[in-house]
Amino acid sequence: MTERAPGSAEQNSLQSLAADLLRGQRLILVSNRGPMEYHAAAGGALQARRGSGGVVTALSGLTNHVDFTWIASAMSDGDRRAAVANEGRAVPSPLPGQRVSVRFINTPRRAYHKHYNIICNPLLWFIQHYMWSSPYTPRVDAAVYDAWENGYVEVNRQFAEAAVEEANRSDDRPLVMVHDYQLYLVPGMVRKRLPHARIHQFVHIPWPTASYWELLPAMIRSAICESLCSADIVGFQAGRDVRSFLGSCDAFLDNASVDYRERSVTYNGRVTLVRNYPISIDVNEVRQIADSPRAIEHDERIRPLLGKQTIVRVDRAEPSKNIIRGFLAYETLLDRHPEFQGEVRFLAFLVPSRTHIRQYQRYVEETDAAVRRVNERFGTPDWTPIQVFYENNYAQAIAGMRRYDALLVNAVIDGMNLVAKEGPIVNRKNGVLILSETAGAYEQLRVGALPVAPADVEGAARALHQALTMPPEERERRANLMRDCIEREDIVDWLRRQLSDLAALDG
Ligand code: G6P
Repeated sequence: MTERAPGSAEQNSLQSLAADLLRGQRLILVSNRGPMEYHAAAGGALQARRGSGGVVTALSGLTNHVDFTWIASAMSDGDRRAAVANEGRAVPSPLPGQRVSVRFINTPRRAYHKHYNIICNPLLWFIQHYMWSSPYTPRVDAAVYDAWENGYVEVNRQFAEAAVEEANRSDDRPLVMVHDYQLYLVPGMVRKRLPHARIHQFVHIPWPTASYWELLPAMIRSAICESLCSADIVGFQAGRDVRSFLGSCDAFLDNASVDYRERSVTYNGRVTLVRNYPISIDVNEVRQIADSPRAIEHDERIRPLLGKQTIVRVDRAEPSKNIIRGFLAYETLLDRHPEFQGEVRFLAFLVPSRTHIRQYQRYVEETDAAVRRVNERFGTPDWTPIQVFYENNYAQAIAGMRRYDALLVNAVIDGMNLVAKEGPIVNRKNGVLILSETAGAYEQLRVGALPVAPADVEGAARALHQALTMPPEERERRANLMRDCIEREDIVDWLRRQLSDLAALDG
């Protein structure tokens, strides 16, 4: 295993690449969640802490080393108070180590509710994860039209406006990097005002085929594709997403010319490159967290809870993660192999997510019911098969992942799935990864993972059995293959490839 110290050659080359690229360009990053968030401490004073979510982690290579402006939604009450106090300006992050300046967008609550709780999650999230049950849902009614116009379009407009204002503060050419599905309309809106800007958009979640997008009205799907084709580069996680996006532009944009070999779209006289950049983890940082005193403390607490063998899962409590089918697979395993009863436990680390949304509330209730059923069927006074930790506690989840014999990642579909990359890095037992073939991570980790199709409960039960009875040499071989791949293509590599492609645009 190759260790990378902080300040390693890779980090340094990323920083010098960023410095070269940003000479004469002004970087403005735009995403829903920002690099920091404010919380009101006892007594009412605002306290800053690092923002949650994968985008923040992924971009820490820039945040901590390069001066730029990051525009993000004011999501907490603390953020809103800070936005008012800063009069909407970008101010340097107060967090030690962060060099970025942050500008919060303080949209009226009603507009943000329509944006986040009606359009982004669930409408777009469910479309992009193939989660609607098309004979019944979604029902795109007048309320959805209203949420699109007065929520999604409005919030995107405010972000675009802020990006243009920030760009105009300098004579340097703006480089606007936009992240994810909450802000699809920003590239188009910025392009109209700043024709000379470099615009880059990265989509963290899967891009479904044109025929699934067709559940949505043409005005929504065409507006999204049209805006994305105002960017210079649109990045996705996986090759399949690139192909689906090219197909969507072909289907939805009159006069677009799509080149499937070059992976580009020419539209309105401009060329957009469409590329895949598989996101990853900061291998060093994850290792440090796994060895931190907090994680060790959790590890000591978790150790008595382990079975003779242990299955682990770590997910946001989220329908696309397919948590219920995972428990059904475990139930099938215990049914089929009574010798595992009392021996193989299942620890599920579930992080509360989007708790205001009805579909999420229902999914959590159904998950609880599945857990109760399995525990009632197979539990004894001294043995509970499934234990759920329902909290946002990253160090605890990492501690859990140190100890798995099998890590179950059976998502319905996932842009990437970083748990599948964290697991093999922190696990101490050469545990086996069971990975959904529809997770973006499968393209890289198929070398060592056991594949499972998301609906295949029987297949997942068999994969669990195979994992739990696998000879140690085979476990080690697979674990090494995955670790090598994750170390090679880590988060530094993800960012470097995007910055290189941006630099290449200028020849
Ligand atoms: C996914 C998305 C991110 C999002 C995260 C958490 O990973 O790609 O854009 O930030 O989920 O979702 P939340 O709605 O809590 O920000």
